Amino acid sequence: MADLRIRDARAGDIDALAGLEAASFPGDRIPRASFRRLLVRPSAALRLATSGDALLGYSLLLFRKGSTLARLYSIAVAREARSLGLGRRLMKDAERIARARGCTRLRLEVRADNAAAIRLYEALGYRAFGRHPGYYEDGMEAIRLEREL
Ligand SMILES: CC(C)(COP(=O)(O)OP(=O)(O)OC[C@H]1O[C@@H](n2cnc3c(N)ncnc32)[C@H](O)[C@@H]1OP(=O)(O)O)[C@@H](O)C(=O)NCCC(=O)NCCS
Repeated sequence: MADLRIRDARAGDIDALAGLEAASFPGDRIPRASFRRLLVRPSAALRLATSGDALLGYSLLLFRKGSTLARLYSIAVAREARSLGLGRRLMKDAERIARARGCTRLRLEVRADNAAAIRLYEALGYRAFGRHPGYYEDGMEAIRLEREL
């Protein structure tokens, strides 16, 4: 991954993003139209990890005016690029962006059965502070995690 880059998403990335979303999540997917809106939303940061023309991952951060709490709404790494440290790099990038916007805490939700993602977040210092029963489309519970930035 010598030519790995992490950058803001652009309109021309929507097809690739929708493809990555479909390949990454069996349900609860972000619709293409939402990605399009998020690109231009000042309260969102949609970041892509690319290698040449290939989209290898993305993260989506949401902010609220007047709040120092940022929310990681989604993150995914393409199957062929997993376990290479890219998820960790996208998280670090998201944290840097949140800090640059004056945020002091980052929160996220994760499926209680998503062991890989939970390990990633815990390794980065995120700690569980609550649960949302029945949060996902299929009824799975969400674990809520938070870290001080
Ligand atoms: C979760 C996800 C983003 C991790 O991305 P990744 O690039 O593979 O993660 P990294 O290579 O940076 O791994 C970082 C740490 O995460 C944990 N981890 C990652 N994949 C793991 C797996 N399959 N099993 C257990 N732990 C895992 C490990 O602690 C790892 O650290 P280590 O390599 O020192 O052991 C990726 O698996 C993914 O896109 N999954 C599908 C979408 C998804 O579930 N997104 C999260 C929604 S909340």
